[in-house]
Amino acid sequence: MQKNNYSNIIVANWKMNLDKAAANILLDNLFSNDLSNKNVVICPPFTLLDFVRNKIKDSSVLLGAQDCSSLASSNGAFTGDISAQMLCDLSCKYVICGHSERRKFYQESDEIIKNKIINAHKAGLVTILCVGESLSDRENGKYKDVICNSVKSILTSSVTEQNTIIAYEPIWAIGTGKTATEDQIEEIHQFLSDVITETFELNLKILYGGSVNEENSASILKIPHVSGLLIGGASLDSKKFYQIIKNS
Ligand code: PGA
Repeated sequence: MQKNNYSNIIVANWKMNLDKAAANILLDNLFSNDLSNKNVVICPPFTLLDFVRNKIKDSSVLLGAQDCSSLASSNGAFTGDISAQMLCDLSCKYVICGHSERRKFYQESDEIIKNKIINAHKAGLVTILCVGESLSDRENGKYKDVICNSVKSILTSSVTEQNTIIAYEPIWAIGTGKTATEDQIEEIHQFLSDVITETFELNLKILYGGSVNEENSASILKIPHVSGLLIGGASLDSKKFYQIIKNS
């Protein structure tokens, strides 16, 4: 998607961070700024979804979750799982699927991620599908194949331009302070856009994520086919996060 007039989406991925008291302070500080006309999504841990829902209810900020069950979209005997329907019940609009930390620590395969996406769409959530290459994929020159195969095997017939966003997150750039260069980001965003258009005839929004901060966000957002940002570490600091939102 080339640059046009719609505003970028800024997604906060809090990961397994913050308790209620810390979330309260962060959100009070964030809301002391003007967030009108900005597209912000906050994805707290499950335990804070209801709390954050109440904090953001009079704002334009939307709620997202970091994961959902691959096994069923509504309910079932799946101890420890949270379904997409349960997330909707807590006013979530978005869910992150296939984050590299889940692929790495929980061995989530493309097949599992595909089922999460199907379940999320069934429940009416917008999915943010994360894809990205490891350092060795990049070094051995196979990074485009890895990304292309992942997108092709995960995206299903339930995908539309309204219910799916892609997040390109090179694994070597997540939480490392090593952001991909603008050329690297541009190359992959163009590539993803081409693959998705050719294979699915869809023009999906593509976010960038991986060590985005208040200093590099503005220039990343100017890159063609970058429709927003997925922010981990910098979303836990209200000043940094607000600066990123302001730049969007
Ligand atoms: P980071 O995380 O901004 O801390 O690199 C991004 C992510 O994992 O989504």
